[in-house]
Amino acid sequence: MTQWHRASSLEDVWEGTPLPVTVEGRPIALYRFGDRVHAVGDLCPHQKDVKLSDGYLDGETIECPMHQSCFNVCTGEVLNAPARENLPVFEVRIEDGDVFVGV
Ligand code: FES
Repeated sequence: MTQWHRASSLEDVWEGTPLPVTVEGRPIALYRFGDRVHAVGDLCPHQKDVKLSDGYLDGETIECPMHQSCFNVCTGEVLNAPARENLPVFEVRIEDGDVFVGV
């Protein structure tokens, strides 16, 4: 069952800049596109100590800063090697200017 947790205020999530947050002990990155916010796992599946939010964001694609695997931050899909696994995707709800993530 989904449990909702406040992750951030909406005004702290800037378009074009990943926002790393920790929700229930999980490293998650928030990505804003206009009124939409997407939440995906922030650790690269290739080496789980590397934060993707430190990488390069181009539109919906984040590039890992270590070995340049790319991921779609809306779907979590891995786009190229060496990473092989998709990112976990979390539900997002925006209420009264706050961003809630479902885990
Ligand atoms: S640590 Fe991300 S691609 Fe290797």
